Amino acid sequence: MQTANVALLGFGNVCRALAELILRKQDALRSRYDLKVRVVGISTGRHGAAIDPNGLDLRTALDAVRFGTLDGLNHGDPIQDVEDFVARVPAGLVFEATPTNPQDGQPALGLIHTLLERGIHVVTANKGPVVFGQRELTEVGLAHGAGFFFESSVMDGAPVFSAAREGLPGAEIVRIRGIFNSTTNYILTRMEKDALSFDAAVKAAQQIGIAETDPTLDVEGWDAAIKVAILANVLMGASLTPADVDREGIRAVTLDDLKAASAAGARIKLICEATRGEDGVVKATVRPSRVPLDDMFALVGGTTSVVDFYTDILPRLTIVENDPGPTTTAFGMLADMVNLMRGRHLPPGSEKSI
Ligand SMILES: NC(=O)c1ccc[n+]([C@@H]2O[C@H](COP(=O)([O-])OP(=O)(O)OC[C@H]3O[C@@H](n4cnc5c(N)ncnc54)[C@H](OP(=O)(O)O)[C@@H]3O)[C@@H](O)[C@H]2O)c1
Repeated sequence: MQTANVALLGFGNVCRALAELILRKQDALRSRYDLKVRVVGISTGRHGAAIDPNGLDLRTALDAVRFGTLDGLNHGDPIQDVEDFVARVPAGLVFEATPTNPQDGQPALGLIHTLLERGIHVVTANKGPVVFGQRELTEVGLAHGAGFFFESSVMDGAPVFSAAREGLPGAEIVRIRGIFNSTTNYILTRMEKDALSFDAAVKAAQQIGIAETDPTLDVEGWDAAIKVAILANVLMGASLTPADVDREGIRAVTLDDLKAASAAGARIKLICEATRGEDGVVKATVRPSRVPLDDMFALVGGTTSVVDFYTDILPRLTIVENDPGPTTTAFGMLADMVNLMRGRHLPPGSEKSI
């Protein structure tokens, strides 16, 4: 039986859901992958941190963070700060789920860099370090025998990157198109179905907890731009930052626009697209666009998201993700862990020959 000593960087919605999932799936991980997961460290921003090389009890940790701090669970020297935690945590893999910084991906980017330099695998759900540092972090990891995986950074737990990595060997992805931002898709759906104004639909999204108090990153298309840039960079070899994406959000979309689209047999969606031009350059866009009612994308409502891969062989491969949330995000991280344990991060050629 292999024991995976793992640590959690961040213990908010996603990593708490991951802790629950580790508890729920421990028998399946043992029987299917011969894998026992032991959590040897947890670090937060304002709720303390704990390291225990013998393993923290996850139920106790979940209760501790709900009602106070994790500090009382620490064994050994007190943990000074998150840098100290990252320098000392005795883990073979760290799950990172701290807030996304859309400007430069920090401080997560630097923390992940340190972990990979220590030869520790990193799995993140945080888009910041992926969009600003994916290539460099992957290389640093490889140089130190560690993998950097980020399945949950786009479309939560849906297997977008692993589908491309495992399922499309030899195929060239020439275009990616999708609906990647749940909040704006929910807002547009409520406006169209319930004739809500833009402001009322934003409020409804805030009430069910999917829109931030300041919804700018979503409604101005920044979150979608980050995600399409990640997909273009990882799957099409581009080097885009979010600012390179030709971006228009949904703030200017009115009920009249939606009605006019409907009268013309279409629906307005915030469509993200990355395309390789004839010059070989990959360009990406995010903009509200009309989608014909008989197109699959028109049926993607509410918080559901979708991606289409157009390849030189398979013309249109579609993945739809229904009902995303912290648990589906946590699932993507758990899947990354299993895939790292199976050596899926190693470059082609490291496997045995046939
Ligand atoms: N929620 C989802 O379904 C979802 C889906 C896909 C991707 N993501 C991404 O996953 C990440 C986490 O999301 P979440 O919903 O779990 O966020 P969250 O509930 O706000 O949790 C963030 C966690 O990070 C901790 N933290 C903040 N700053 C830190 C620092 N400098 N060092 C160490 N820990 C720090 C926080 O600690 P304190 O609470 O003590 O400050 C908290 O435990 C984000 O990047 C998000 O974009 C989330």
